[in-house]
Amino acid sequence: MVTTRAHLITYGCQMNEYDTHLVQSQLVSLGADIVSSVDEADVVLINTCAVRGKPVEKVRSLLGDLRKIKARRPLVIGLMGCLAQLDEGQQIARAFGVDIVLGPGSLLDIGRALEGNERFWALNFRDELHGHVPPPPQGTLQAHLTIMRGCDHHCTYCIVPTTRGPQVSRSPDDILRELDMQLAAGVQEVTLLGQNVNAYGVDQGAQLAGYPSFANLLRLVGQSGVRRVKFTTSHPMNFTEDVAAAMADTPAICEFIHLPVQSGSNRVLRRMAREYTREQYLKHVADIRRHLPHAVLATDIIVGFPGETEDDFQDTLALYDEVGYDSAYMFIYSPRPGTPSYTHFADLPREVKTERLGRLVARQKEWSARNNATKVGTVQEVLLRGDAHSSGFLEGHTRGSHPTVVPHAVGADRPGVYRVRIEHATPHMLYGRTVDTAGHDLPLIPATVDTARPEAAALTAPLPMA
Ligand code: 5AD
Ligand code: SF4
Repeated sequence: MVTTRAHLITYGCQMNEYDTHLVQSQLVSLGADIVSSVDEADVVLINTCAVRGKPVEKVRSLLGDLRKIKARRPLVIGLMGCLAQLDEGQQIARAFGVDIVLGPGSLLDIGRALEGNERFWALNFRDELHGHVPPPPQGTLQAHLTIMRGCDHHCTYCIVPTTRGPQVSRSPDDILRELDMQLAAGVQEVTLLGQNVNAYGVDQGAQLAGYPSFANLLRLVGQSGVRRVKFTTSHPMNFTEDVAAAMADTPAICEFIHLPVQSGSNRVLRRMAREYTREQYLKHVADIRRHLPHAVLATDIIVGFPGETEDDFQDTLALYDEVGYDSAYMFIYSPRPGTPSYTHFADLPREVKTERLGRLVARQKEWSARNNATKVGTVQEVLLRGDAHSSGFLEGHTRGSHPTVVPHAVGADRPGVYRVRIEHATPHMLYGRTVDTAGHDLPLIPATVDTARPEAAALTAPLPMA
């Protein structure tokens, strides 16, 4: 490949971030330099998301800007990922003079795509993508590990089965090999990724083919020596109590579970083709709480699904109060061309959807505030990321994924896992002090204010401790 300076831009989920990393490593092995801005690049690759209209609009506007740059100087533009796989994405690619189009199953074609001067489009679903991720750089604390790709469900609102194809699980040996590389690099927290991790192995004939159940895969990963294990995303339909048991019996598995419910109304769940009822969902929550009384629960909700009545929405609010989620991703229903709900159901008025989202966000804020307040006075294990900066604070997150801020302290001014006593909580953040094993505060290091920008410390300093 001719020497290339490539800039990569990612939209969408953690899966997409992982995929961008995969493409980046392919490029590096082919001799390309990865640069951090469009200005320095002769190739710009956009890894796209198609799950809602908003990320698609962002890509459109970015492509508009890139087209202007391309009119002034040579620039190769590539569209990758979920949007690229769709007719919608290919039309956009044509309209904006995109040179390379790679669907999420064709990312390994990036080298071939950059070889010639022709337009290059590849839209295959292939499973040999697994196993191409190189070790992370030494000192990496957090890593993602894809255990499966694609999805076999057919939720009526969702474009993902079209963009990412059917489910293909990765072999346990391959997963553990990648995990070993991550451990050797110093990784302390690994997040297992898949569209529906609870169905791990089902596509391969599961146990018959020697694949462990997801619960047993969790145990295997949890016993590997990695300090923390998380996973996302769980589909309630495939959730088994054994997953909750694995979380309870394997200390490395964090007591955090993201279990998207989407709606609290059985009528809406049926129209979404979610394949579980509100009652079955609540039974999973009860099982989780029985095994893990301090489990931290997160969810996804779609507000304003076609035909959702005020009563249906009240069911969602009531389910919220029954579960008391620690956090939630809340979305307004976005009609996606190519999905059954787009074809068959009429969209609700925008004002109705927005008003309901407002009420739900307010309710979630109350629960986040209430749940976070219970952490004040407790000692949490926090993975502090990033180097000490001039504000004098480090950011990180707990085993339950609560964002947390602490001031620099002697012996805890470096990225790593530390014990933190929580002193103050807001709905979105915990604030604390690093402590030793006896619970005594570690002495603080005074903030080193950047003399060139003394205002920086004030700008980045978190709220004062209560
Ligand atoms: N509209 C709004 N939200 C959606 N999601 C998926 N499809 C749509 C859509 N058409 C949400 C779901 C899913 C998350 C990744 O995105 O809540 O869990
Ligand atoms: Fe991820 Fe779904 Fe968006 Fe694809 S469409 S990037 S799988 S969230």
